[in-house]
Amino acid sequence: MTEETDLTRRHFLTVATATAGVVGVAFAAAPFVASFRPSARARALGAPIEVDVSKISEGSMLKVEWRGQPVWVLHRTQAMLDTLEEIEPRLRDPESNQSDQPDYARNRHRSERPEYLVVIGSCTHLGCAPIERFEIGPADLGRDWKGGFFCPCHGSSFDLAGRVFSGVPAPTNLVIPPHTFTDDRTLLIGSDTGAA
Ligand code: FES
Repeated sequence: MTEETDLTRRHFLTVATATAGVVGVAFAAAPFVASFRPSARARALGAPIEVDVSKISEGSMLKVEWRGQPVWVLHRTQAMLDTLEEIEPRLRDPESNQSDQPDYARNRHRSERPEYLVVIGSCTHLGCAPIERFEIGPADLGRDWKGGFFCPCHGSSFDLAGRVFSGVPAPTNLVIPPHTFTDDRTLLIGSDTGAA
């Protein structure tokens, strides 16, 4: 083999190896890019959801899921709403100044419409699921319990607007997601513009 032939062969080998490398990267990159495209299911999970509130009787609660999170819709009675003011001296953040909610829910009832509480059902301490305890004065929660939510993990308690009581581990009120009503019976969760 002459020196010239040897150089040509080495050049060919170098080019062939480099080309294979580029092709290999191209094939390897394709599934990587595809994996970043959100699936239809992922898109659906992020979309607002509609709830027919006419099916929730007064004093009862519906549990739905939005963006993989539990969302509770409580149809409060007038008696439930009446507890919200008297309980305020016992709350950590009664005016929701340190808590997470849309501006239109920074009020005593923490919702767009007073009778409907729409709240993320996840404790603001470490994320356990609080339990609805709507009875008045049960033995385990005390005679001055007016109804609300109790988290059994470490004993945090919340009133009927999801506001946290003083002296419990949870630091803030339960989170209120964006929500609005598109008509008298249709609640949209995940949007507050009325457009899905
Ligand atoms: S997670 Fe609810 S009190 Fe700790």
